[in-house]
Amino acid sequence: MKITFHEQTKVFHLFNDEISYIIRIMENGQLENLYYGKKIADREDFTHLHEEMQRALMAVCVPEPGVLSMQYTKQEYPVYGTGDYRSPAFTVKQENGSQVVNFTYVSHEIYKGKKALTPLPAVYVEREEEACTLEVLLHDDVMDTDLTLSYTIFEAYPVITRNAKITHKGTEKITLERAMSLSVEFQDMDFEMVHLSGAWARERYVKERKLEMGIQSIQGINGTGCGAEHNPFLALKRPHTTENQGEVYGFSLVYSGNFLAQTEVSTFDMTRVMMGIHPEGFSWELAQGESFQTPEGVMVYSDAGLNKMSQVYHRLYRKNLMRGKWRDQPRPILLNNWEATYFDFNEEKILNIAAKAKEAGVELFVLDDGWFGVRNDDYSGLGDWFVNLNKLPHGISGLSQKIEEMGLKFGLWVELEMVNKDSDLYREHPDWIIGVPGRFESHGRHQHVLDFSRKEVVDYIYEMISKVIRESSISYIKWDMNRYMTEPYSRGASSSEQGKVMHKYILGVYDLYTRLTQEFPEILFESCSSGGARFDPAMLFFAPQTWTSDDTDAGERAKIQYGTSYVYPLVSMGSHVSAVPNHQLLRTTPLSTRGNMAYFGTFGYELDLNLLSEEEMEEVKQQIAFMKEYRNLIQVEGDFYRILSPFEGNETAWMVVSQDKEQAIVGFYQRLNKINGSWLRLKLQGLDKQVLYDVKCGEKVYQAYGDELMYVGIPIDREVLNQKGGDFASLLYVLQKAD
Ligand code: DGJ
Repeated sequence: MKITFHEQTKVFHLFNDEISYIIRIMENGQLENLYYGKKIADREDFTHLHEEMQRALMAVCVPEPGVLSMQYTKQEYPVYGTGDYRSPAFTVKQENGSQVVNFTYVSHEIYKGKKALTPLPAVYVEREEEACTLEVLLHDDVMDTDLTLSYTIFEAYPVITRNAKITHKGTEKITLERAMSLSVEFQDMDFEMVHLSGAWARERYVKERKLEMGIQSIQGINGTGCGAEHNPFLALKRPHTTENQGEVYGFSLVYSGNFLAQTEVSTFDMTRVMMGIHPEGFSWELAQGESFQTPEGVMVYSDAGLNKMSQVYHRLYRKNLMRGKWRDQPRPILLNNWEATYFDFNEEKILNIAAKAKEAGVELFVLDDGWFGVRNDDYSGLGDWFVNLNKLPHGISGLSQKIEEMGLKFGLWVELEMVNKDSDLYREHPDWIIGVPGRFESHGRHQHVLDFSRKEVVDYIYEMISKVIRESSISYIKWDMNRYMTEPYSRGASSSEQGKVMHKYILGVYDLYTRLTQEFPEILFESCSSGGARFDPAMLFFAPQTWTSDDTDAGERAKIQYGTSYVYPLVSMGSHVSAVPNHQLLRTTPLSTRGNMAYFGTFGYELDLNLLSEEEMEEVKQQIAFMKEYRNLIQVEGDFYRILSPFEGNETAWMVVSQDKEQAIVGFYQRLNKINGSWLRLKLQGLDKQVLYDVKCGEKVYQAYGDELMYVGIPIDREVLNQKGGDFASLLYVLQKAD
């Protein structure tokens, strides 16, 4: 890994063993992108990659006889108003009403390592040798404003992270209206855009569409999180790229608030990708001496298909984004009472459920919604973070102690960013919710969004919840968030500061996470938002796992977990076995399939095990024993391979392979059973061709070499699928290097 600066040609070359990223300082002082892709040898002169010619209607941005035009040039951080008629990465309003700027090169710094972006979450390194950073300082003379573009390249990954920082030095006030985290351009438009989109209970479905001239984008503008609708990720893949071959460029934003991820193809077939905070509702006034830091964008290049891109994101996010005690730890097997009881519980019921969980081998009991304030349904109680003694006469401290005495750890659900109007907190502080005085305040799930852009609100919530945690034995916190923001307006901010509210809200969330994770470093945090409406990299910085979806149906989970795996590692995906008929889909799937699905995630249960038959309870015990044996491989050590896509057919398959390729676990799932179906071979991935493996499926074992398993495949036994229940049946294969 290296970053070179070629003085003569004014070219920066960032490269490691896999990728190259080449930037040139143009005659007008702005930055041009000359190349981004597979590694090429370093040399002094790449300037021939810059192309220009006189064209009709073009605006020339250098004195004659120059012909440089921004309209046909691939730029690093395009700005508004100097002849580039595509969307800019940056727009600022000045006191005279102008939005025209011109940031030109001043200096640069190349250093080992990577700086933190505090208070924003970001990918980090533990040793300087892991990465190398280029910071380019540009300046607009008229506003007297600095722009610093930062690029970090990693030694071990085909990854470049980027961010931009604006520091205002001038005396007049300026207002940022758009400040993207990254902008990258490609010479051509021969790409398909891949994104993860959906809705509640069907989050992160894989969508692909061909790039066309003009703008295509995805966004989140709900204020409280990226949303269930679109994930802050997009990839550009070549049309023939598959899971295992071909080029793909991934772009992922380490941010939980409003975002825009956009592609724009010019009529000269050039593609611009940009990503950052969504300009809608955003305006950020900067006075002299103030700065604005954009969130971080993470770019991954893969020359070996989508699966390699995902593996890179998995490793990077697992090792260089997640933090703390739980970063490298397999997850405890939990049982959560939400689908078992909803709001209808008391201490006796909870202890009864926990005791059965303990008997099955569960390690952590999680008490979900309903333990605090007056909370017997979702109309009241949010905001009152003190225990409901009617339900739990011994408090959370008493309950957690009893659970611990059983030999289980105790976890607790919270929803700290929200308030019901029917709560003591709201009655005391009605002005603490987001909303415009005099206007109707939309509600969602009968609740309102607390104004986390205000420090006093965050302080208050911190005091309340940290007291509960301090007084009890809590090993895990599920941090939920169940509605989007409406009428975005803070009663605590002036009119010129309203455009800051949504970003400051997210900073408030990060602040509370920071305080709680610092004070309680032993606690495993799981983020959640009506299931998976806030599954983003920034959350993983604070909470190393996320509740993937409220949809616990194993059939539907195939799509949700498959899509989520494009970016997020298995260890981050909350996945539980729930009761049948499933509470969301009303579908009945075999217990074995529910287990086989939940293994590829954090693994837990979301039901009352007392209601199972003896036979089912035996199966649950076996599932738990299996997960205890293999969770280190699945969650911590292994590489994940997608094999069959639920978006393309009736079958889904995936697998995890150990680093030494001596062990692997394969999950195969079908939706509907097929009558008199054709033969089916499952071709595996990632094995060692020359290793002889024992291939075990239930009681059946046979041996095969890695090459056979990958090139010929495992013959899927349809009779076994019939025995396993037919519709929604699944098979689990365990591969172990033979003695
Ligand atoms: C939404 C979550 O996704 C569920 O798992 C559960 O915690 C409920 N909220 C509780 O209100």
